[in-house]
Amino acid sequence: MKLMKSEALEKVVMNFDVESIRQQFPILSREVDGKSLVYLDNAATTQKPQCVIDALVDYYSTCNSNVHRGAHFLADEATRRYEGARDIIAKFINASVRQEVIWTSGTTEAINIVANGLSQQLQPGDEVLVTQMEHHANLIPWQQACKKTGASLQVAMINEDGELDIDDFDAKLSSKTKLVAMAHVSNALGTINPIKSLTAKAKAVGALVLIDGAQGVAHGMVNVQDIGCDFYAFSGHKVFGPTGIGALWGKEALLKEWPVWQTGGEMIQVVTYQDAVWNELPYRFEAGTPHIAGAIGMGEAIRWFDSLDMEAVKQHEAMLIASATEQAEAFDGLTIIGNAKNKTGVLSFAIESGHPADIGFLLDRQGIAIRTGHHCAEPLMGRLGVPGTARASFSIYNTLQEVDILFEALQKVKKMLA
Ligand code: ALA
Repeated sequence: MKLMKSEALEKVVMNFDVESIRQQFPILSREVDGKSLVYLDNAATTQKPQCVIDALVDYYSTCNSNVHRGAHFLADEATRRYEGARDIIAKFINASVRQEVIWTSGTTEAINIVANGLSQQLQPGDEVLVTQMEHHANLIPWQQACKKTGASLQVAMINEDGELDIDDFDAKLSSKTKLVAMAHVSNALGTINPIKSLTAKAKAVGALVLIDGAQGVAHGMVNVQDIGCDFYAFSGHKVFGPTGIGALWGKEALLKEWPVWQTGGEMIQVVTYQDAVWNELPYRFEAGTPHIAGAIGMGEAIRWFDSLDMEAVKQHEAMLIASATEQAEAFDGLTIIGNAKNKTGVLSFAIESGHPADIGFLLDRQGIAIRTGHHCAEPLMGRLGVPGTARASFSIYNTLQEVDILFEALQKVKKMLA
């Protein structure tokens, strides 16, 4: 979303009923030391609506059973709900077939599945291209794959605003590039990358493309066929679902041939003492008993999220970040870190003479939850020349009043630090 003035946006989003959204999230009525909780750590994890909590409780209360292998009605029902959740995810991201959705423990495991397969194909002279803004989860697996194979890791630079330097990306992309792995949205800066056009460039040189969608998926803008990528990895807990569950989407033709990840039960068709034949998609990547409740909860979370007016969701979030940015710009001694023109609801910042950890602590004393530190993007912090940042990240249930509360609290923090 392009940054607009918050006042203009306030008019656009008048019919987004944030109060009725908030009422669906029981945790938002908690108090911290007698103060209403202001939860601004949504890039780390989002809160869960009651319907997701109910889906988890209902699964364990009424149909807990293992999937695919039982000869009884509970197993049938659990399997129906579990596979039904896969259908919801497939539709939400516009997969061409449901078999393209592999359940994983989250984005990290999804990326590791791809890196494991790629490390069996890379050779010296090959290259993997990432960007300077990657989360460790979309960097270390590629470092390891390159180290194992003698391939080289290329890193496309960012500019001072925290946007990808497209010229540098273009210069580092070549016929040697076997895979481009890039964030849809930077978790530390909120920058939205132009993944569709970058994917088209990567495909033109014959590279595979993996998108780390951990931060992209909660912003209602994922259409894997439209993006044109080969893999898209994401987590349930960043989109109002449970932790410990996520998905890897990949093109069917690729996944069919992709090296398997974990081996064991469920991912096989035929087994002898000496050998095994792998199962078909998606099960060939789903060894062992899966996180059944988690998948059902994630399905419910996505069903709930998808039922909202996505345009209104985007505008609401744009209004929050616009207001936060305006107040941050007017705040003496505060520096915004990450000024991309196209960004989500993430405000990373530093305050003169204040370590991010102290800012986080002093805000917490006022009931405000943010994240501080390197945000699992340590090389990015090095590139930006900061030890870390304080990061407020907004979601659909946050309000303009909470943005104001943040800045009032920051004025107090500034005095305390002085
Ligand atoms: N990657 C998550 C974050 O940015 C945990 O906070």
